[in-house]
Amino acid sequence: MKKLIVANWKMNPLSVKDAVALAKACDKKGVVICPPFPFILSVAKVLHNATLGAQDCAWEEGGAYTGEVSAVQLKDCGVKYVIIGHSERRRYFKENNAMVARKIAACVQAGLTPILCVGETQKEKEQGLRDTVIVRQVRGGLNGLPHPSPLLGKERGFGGSVIIAYEPVWAIGTGVSCAPEQAAQAHRIIRQTMNAKIPHLAEEIKVIYGGSVDASKAAGFLAQKEIDGLLVGGSSLKPEEFHKIFKIVSPV
Ligand code: PGA
Repeated sequence: MKKLIVANWKMNPLSVKDAVALAKACDKKGVVICPPFPFILSVAKVLHNATLGAQDCAWEEGGAYTGEVSAVQLKDCGVKYVIIGHSERRRYFKENNAMVARKIAACVQAGLTPILCVGETQKEKEQGLRDTVIVRQVRGGLNGLPHPSPLLGKERGFGGSVIIAYEPVWAIGTGVSCAPEQAAQAHRIIRQTMNAKIPHLAEEIKVIYGGSVDASKAAGFLAQKEIDGLLVGGSSLKPEEFHKIFKIVSPV
């Protein structure tokens, strides 16, 4: 399975001009770029190799939901992947597993691939709750999908699947990342959970790692067979750093 690099720009940069420049600098095959909503169309125009992603979506398709953006609208703008349930959304906007599940279902229904983020907080880690939390978040996040889901899988014509991103909350934006072996262990738990939940698709589902990934740490994660790619925040805003990460996946 080819390893995937997802760039999560979060609420950066601050202008269309800078977003377009950053997109051009990071336009590589095998990369998914997730800009803020207002920059999506401008970024779409300059991408020739990378794939377009978004950072969130509404669970409804359309209607009176001020401030929301739907999966159907994103699809129409050329988006293929959507990050769902990022810990910053869970923390600052009080998203819970039930809301996440509805968003995942909306993405799949629209033919987009959701990137479901799961991971334990520092406190949960200290209490030895990592596995409990990630199993609950994976199961909860996929709860909106019929089982077995007729909407998932290329053979059904939706082209959609699901990606799970293991992002320990304590490692996000802190500079402290998880040890690759520890991450691989969490990925195994995630895969076991997926196997039980959607066995017919478990094989094609990527499980990627995120949390303070930079060029010096990327190789360690990518060397783990359980880790199918990376979700990169801060380092995706620095083209030079991002290139170094990209080169580990595609050396030529
Ligand atoms: P970080 O963010 O690489 O800046 O830690 C990762 C993420 O939040 O997806």
